[in-house]
Amino acid sequence: MKFDVARLREEFPILKEMVYGKPLTYLDSAATSQKPQQVIDAISRFFLKENANVHRGVHYLSERATEGYENARLEVQKFLNATHASEIIFVRGTTEAINLVAATYGKKHVGSGDEVLITEMEHHSNIVPWQMLCEEKGARLCVAPISDSGELELDAFEKLVSVKTKIVAVTHVSNVLGTINPIKRIVEIAHAYGAKVVVDGAQAVPHLPVDVQALDCDFYALSGHKVYGPTGIGVVYGKSELLEDMPPYQGGGDMILSVTFEKTIYNKPPNKFEAGTPNMAGAIGLAAAIVFLATLPQDERAEEEKSLLEYGTQALSAIPGLRLIGTAREKVSVLSFVLEGIHPHDIGTILDREGVAIRTGHHCAQPLMKRLKLPATARASLACYNTRADIDQLVAGLHKVQEIFK
Ligand SMILES: Cc1ncc(COP(=O)(O)O)c(C=O)c1O
Repeated sequence: MKFDVARLREEFPILKEMVYGKPLTYLDSAATSQKPQQVIDAISRFFLKENANVHRGVHYLSERATEGYENARLEVQKFLNATHASEIIFVRGTTEAINLVAATYGKKHVGSGDEVLITEMEHHSNIVPWQMLCEEKGARLCVAPISDSGELELDAFEKLVSVKTKIVAVTHVSNVLGTINPIKRIVEIAHAYGAKVVVDGAQAVPHLPVDVQALDCDFYALSGHKVYGPTGIGVVYGKSELLEDMPPYQGGGDMILSVTFEKTIYNKPPNKFEAGTPNMAGAIGLAAAIVFLATLPQDERAEEEKSLLEYGTQALSAIPGLRLIGTAREKVSVLSFVLEGIHPHDIGTILDREGVAIRTGHHCAQPLMKRLKLPATARASLACYNTRADIDQLVAGLHKVQEIFK
């Protein structure tokens, strides 16, 4: 069966928008993806017909809302192939997911003289929480290097792991380079020394099937909005035995079994980590996004992405003065580049007037920019709704940029 992108695009109403009188060419899905109608419908249906607070009510609507929220957890469990639904904790997004692990597992298990190992290609949200933890605990933040093509130097990484390493925090897919990291191998290395592995899956879940049991990672973080779901909802998966043993993240309603002024007894996971009224509509919207993704023919979708990436790589490489940043052998459809003599911000601004939306800047990865000796890049990032025509628009826009700067 051929992957029918034209039909798929019909499901994304925003793709019909005009920008400055030109059809929208959306190439910024790594920042946030667009939403299919069924996600928009699921959220509005919740507010139109089901809205009530979860877990606490005995009335009809509260039961409906609780059912919707807990079913969403089951959808995520299936999506990640987690062993138990209680291993799925709803948070605001990847940023909060990683902060949660740092503030709970990290605070309990990282001490003075210990090490946390990250890589040179991390997003700020997988750097700063660990830096803060290390500062507080007197631990050391170690950084594994990458090659010029944007691949993790696995031998160097392995040499940096020791019994001092308590946590390895690594991105599954780089938001700047598109590189897919060998998570399974990383986990094997880390586990050999007793270190736990936190995977930043923000950029992986929109592109790759993820099986947390097969990866054997200890924690896995993702954001709903990057995987065709709404903003303000994300997930941290954690292995049961770790979650059981971790202190809570925030205090408040729902995370307790009983409270007296003398002592509070905490609830079990996942509730222990979900203090306060959760983002019910967000969770339900995320579940709708997962159902949407599951209905796509997976092999054809992967094939289409591969062919689009090849097409984009060739088309951009043919532009004189353009250098692709991130040419790992295993990568997703993220195309970062620089154009000789032209600042990425100028590229982005001129493309915008052509209706082409890309991202420019440091992409919340300043240490990576320093490693690459670049102040910024331009980045076109693709999703399941992009086509060769989108790439052609980008290329035509880039020729225009070069005309202007001639
Ligand atoms: C690799 C990676 N990690 C983490 C994040 C943070 O995600 P959020 O802002 O949804 O919390 C992003 C967002 O761009 C990302 O690309």
